[in-house]
Amino acid sequence: MTWVRGLHHITGAATDGQKDHDFYTKVLGLRRVKKTINHETADQWHLFYGDYDGNAGTIMTNFFFENVPLPPWKRGRGTISDVAFSVPRGSLDFWQRRLEAHGLSCERRDERFGEQVLGYVDPSGIPSELIEHDDERDPPALGDLDDTHKVRGFHSTTIISRIPELTLQFFTGLLQAEVVGTEGRRTRLAFADQGRSGYLDLLDGADLPWGHWGLGGIHHVAFTVESKEQMEMLWRVLSGAGAILTDLRDRKWFHSMYMTEPGGINIEFSNLDPGWTVDEPLEELGSTLALPKQWADQRAEIEAKLPTLRFD
Ligand SMILES: [Fe+2]
Repeated sequence: MTWVRGLHHITGAATDGQKDHDFYTKVLGLRRVKKTINHETADQWHLFYGDYDGNAGTIMTNFFFENVPLPPWKRGRGTISDVAFSVPRGSLDFWQRRLEAHGLSCERRDERFGEQVLGYVDPSGIPSELIEHDDERDPPALGDLDDTHKVRGFHSTTIISRIPELTLQFFTGLLQAEVVGTEGRRTRLAFADQGRSGYLDLLDGADLPWGHWGLGGIHHVAFTVESKEQMEMLWRVLSGAGAILTDLRDRKWFHSMYMTEPGGINIEFSNLDPGWTVDEPLEELGSTLALPKQWADQRAEIEAKLPTLRFD
């Protein structure tokens, strides 16, 4: 039994919904896979961006925290440091010019496991990277991007555990991730479906201050579990091992359960059923406001309260 297949989605806190939408769809060239609201608070936009099919391992989901008095995210121990997207080899000069032309600041970072890294912060301040990678995924190029530049999904995400030893033990022991490389203070983990996912990098940040989540930060990383039945079994395994998890929640397009791993990082487990097409055909994903089941009968009130966004 291999519980976790790979990365499923990554969720951040955006501060400007319009800029967020326009950046992920028009600059990064992802597809708006689902247009919805927070399952818990119906007056908050929640957009899902990914490849054309919305494959697990490509989905960036951002909540829009406009006019919510949260402090800004602070990098440090106990935070998710970066989300990295996979781009073709030789494309980083193009991407640096493109991001800078849209007003984002970029920096070339040290080569990582033999790959070129471009760091940037997205329009809300979410710490992000593009990494040149030989990727077996080949999604359709969208917008004005072509095959030599397109984003293929997540390359990796980096977490800075409060207790690196326990985090490593949690992921390699209970969740059966595999250590596939170490470089300096970075330990790279891979999962069962690595070719269709992304890596999890553990960064030992012992010299860093405590961090905390907030605006412009990444709230959680979700990992793919094959089925609802396996999630139920995993709940029992993790709970039996001492973890405190939420119940299994129906997220309409998949099921989710949440916990904080031993190093202080919020994580989620999600399955793939029933998928994005349960309420929209594939060709029209992201085109209509898709409401979670508990809000389905309040469409008019919800649409009236949501901040206005342009989805052109
Ligand atoms: Fe999530």
